[in-house]
Amino acid sequence: MIRVPVAGLREHAGETVTIAGWVHTLRLQRAMQFVLVRDHTGVVQVTHRRDGSALEAQLDRLTIESAVRVAGRVADNPVVSLGGLEVIPDEVVVENLAAAPLPVDEHTGPEGRLDWRFLDVRRRPAARLVFAVQTTAERAMREFAYASGCTEMHTPKLMGTASESGAEVFELGYFGRSAYLAQSPQFYKQMAIAAGVDRVFEVGPVFRAERSFTSRHATEFTGVDAELAWITGVEDVMDFEERMIAHALRAVAGEHGAAIRELYGTQVTVPAVPFPRITMAAAHDVLGTRGERADLDPAGERAIAAHVAERTGHEFVFVTEYPASVRPFYHMRPAGQQQLTCSSDLLWRGVEITTGAQREHRYDVLVRQAAEKGLSTEPMRDYLECFRYGCPPHGGFGLGLGRLLMVLLGLESIREATFLFRGPNRLTP
Ligand code: 4AD
Ligand code: MG
Repeated sequence: MIRVPVAGLREHAGETVTIAGWVHTLRLQRAMQFVLVRDHTGVVQVTHRRDGSALEAQLDRLTIESAVRVAGRVADNPVVSLGGLEVIPDEVVVENLAAAPLPVDEHTGPEGRLDWRFLDVRRRPAARLVFAVQTTAERAMREFAYASGCTEMHTPKLMGTASESGAEVFELGYFGRSAYLAQSPQFYKQMAIAAGVDRVFEVGPVFRAERSFTSRHATEFTGVDAELAWITGVEDVMDFEERMIAHALRAVAGEHGAAIRELYGTQVTVPAVPFPRITMAAAHDVLGTRGERADLDPAGERAIAAHVAERTGHEFVFVTEYPASVRPFYHMRPAGQQQLTCSSDLLWRGVEITTGAQREHRYDVLVRQAAEKGLSTEPMRDYLECFRYGCPPHGGFGLGLGRLLMVLLGLESIREATFLFRGPNRLTP
């Protein structure tokens, strides 16, 4: 017999069907047994009048969250609150009896829920919606990238030398020597540009050995990266970013707008392009912090976002022209302005969701900038060779998928935007 999703039962009123799901609630009364069965689409009442049968005994032994299949007749019953439908069972198969009591309930705190993440996600439609939204957003970004001429690459996450800088890198044993986990596909996507791939797209794991306990930081996250050849400035990168994000949000609004409104109480709006831009210098003027600090701290980011939202009504803002002192050596610097970089961070509701830049593709300049930062070029030999044999101008960005989902759904923490969170204190489950 075909399995009917609970949300589709209405079409089968009067028929005999099979449903498959979990025991959501049990009400075992003197004359009646009510079992609410939940699948990934909804909850339905299974109603059985006690009759001394084996089925009655079986229902009495059920526990909450047991995995069951129920074959029975779909009956119209206007007094049943769950859609005016119930299933009158002929047969119940207990595929997996859940141990009792459950280790989580509605009072379990955030860490306890992470300990029992599979039960947490299974029992909360809002938690599962995150991954449906993620699927749509990721698909839409990929669609956009393909339509924009990108080739999807899969670069190694095991590296022989630390990428970018040595600080935030995980070191691991590798057949008697050390290997490192990639903290960005940065160098390899640039290598793909040097390999003649015109536009690079990659979705993959990113590792950061950072002892951060904020709501925005994970030690492993999914990065959405692009790198574009033959750009004429970082503006080309920002243009790609904003259109990709608007495309993704349009898809999410269309497919999940109603569910997001229902489960999260937020409205998904498709942002207008172009997004506002503000230079770092102008941002410091707004904050009254010019000269005090080169980078923006999270409070500064929120203040800039609030300022821009007030002025333009826009939730996104690109902060541009970051000082060279707070940017990596490979960021290009504007001609005649050595203290600045051709770079941007994209803030959404005050949270950084991307960092991008035009890269320095001129070997001599790149080596000079590395030296200036006190970096040894020896471990970067393979990377630097890319710039000695005809590398085109290029630039790109990295976007944190968890950050995007967190802001989109108004989640309190990136922990809720990730299936299995990884942080300094969490390596399990
Ligand atoms: O800003 P980041 O560090 O930039 C880079 O990786 C560069 N190599 C640029 C590039 O082209 N990839 O990381 C890119 C984005 C951030 O803007 C943020 O959204 C996210 O990745 N991110 C994190 N997400 C979760 N936990 C962390 N610890 C993150 N660090 C960065
Ligand atoms: Mg960044």
